[in-house]
Amino acid sequence: MSQFVRNSNGRARVLVTGGCGFIGSNFIHHLIEDTNAEIANLDLLTYAGNLQTVADVADHPRHRFVQGDIADSNLVRQLIDDFAPTYLINFAAESHVDRSIDGPADFIHTNIVGTYNLLDNALSYWRTLDNVDQARFRFLHVSTDEVYGSLGDHGTFSEDTPYAPNSPYSASKAASDHLVRAWYHTYGLPTLTTNCSNNYGPYQFPEKLIPLVILNALEGKPLPIYGDGQNVRDWLFVEDHCRAIWLTVNEGKPGEIYNIGGNSEKTNLEVVDTLCLLLDELLPDSLHSPHSQLKTFVADRPGHDWRYAIDASKIRNQLGWQPQETFESGMRKTVQWYLDHLDWCEAVNADNYDGQRLGLQ
Ligand code: NAD
Ligand code: TYD
Repeated sequence: MSQFVRNSNGRARVLVTGGCGFIGSNFIHHLIEDTNAEIANLDLLTYAGNLQTVADVADHPRHRFVQGDIADSNLVRQLIDDFAPTYLINFAAESHVDRSIDGPADFIHTNIVGTYNLLDNALSYWRTLDNVDQARFRFLHVSTDEVYGSLGDHGTFSEDTPYAPNSPYSASKAASDHLVRAWYHTYGLPTLTTNCSNNYGPYQFPEKLIPLVILNALEGKPLPIYGDGQNVRDWLFVEDHCRAIWLTVNEGKPGEIYNIGGNSEKTNLEVVDTLCLLLDELLPDSLHSPHSQLKTFVADRPGHDWRYAIDASKIRNQLGWQPQETFESGMRKTVQWYLDHLDWCEAVNADNYDGQRLGLQ
């Protein structure tokens, strides 16, 4: 870890955890392309993290990769001391609801113990900084709207909505959010929490609805729709989420929570139908067209949250963020990206996942 040059001429030094996963890797690409920040990327490389995802920036002078566990106290302490971050942004997590039903232990370890360990070491480091660097430091915790539980047919989640997590995944994220809040109120560590709705876009591991449906459709396999397909998610293109996080870490007020969402509610059936139509259009010679014939209703997810919807007015009014992509433009980009990156899909799925149903208990 002595590879870090500490003098970065006033540029932000960003310790990104989970930078080889879906959102973290998009965030690193955003930092490389649109900022001059220095990046340290700490990732354990679980089934969901892959070096291929950041292969294009592997040798970039502003990016360094460190393999390790966010719950490893010695490693995190040494990394923070060596890298001297301006910002620590915590993306690392076990993130899939269905896997949390099959095996919650990893979710408790990474999402709760890991976040505690990052907070503990960030606080020790922050206390050593001079006044100027203390005032600039931020710990941004990337969280989810799933901590708020399930909505009925009406209403939205705001920053004041009481927490009511229903899955082992969302319960572990809720616990970590509470720890972040406590480190701000008790110790004064300048923390921020963002709670975002469902993301989609490049580099999403193909266990999640959108990439799973695209890849199954290409092979003519069934497109599994849980229950009656009427559950609603509020979809946001991942690059819009990354822009919101960078804005929040730079402009957000310490101790605050910011909800992030695309104002783009869709039933799961609408999502799958959109994907099928895009594939029909982009693959006119496909043997499997119309792809909608592959739709298959399967047993529902246990404890399946009915509806999520975000009220993103706080981040819009206070920080001036709004999504740049519509659901239609983002989905088109996403389908095209998967069609262009089948080698990536093959590499990340190898030895890890072959599309089997998860989370039936
Ligand atoms: P992901 O599963 O694609 O990636 C997680 C990354 O964290 C992987 O690279 C993995 O190797 C790494 N990781 C896991 N355990 C680790 C550990 N103990 N130490 C270090 N690294 C570890 O997840 P994602 O979809 O990119 O989600 C990133 C964050 O955003 C998560 O905190 C998630 O809760 C949150 N979030 C996700 C969504 C979504 O729709 N995907 C929406 C809102 C919030
Ligand atoms: P998912 O992508 O797992 O995200 P989350 O559970 O965090 O919302 O699932 C999105 C929605 O799609 C959710 O309502 C469950 C549903 N779903 C299916 O219908 N079929 C599938 O194969 C998967 C993975 C999810």
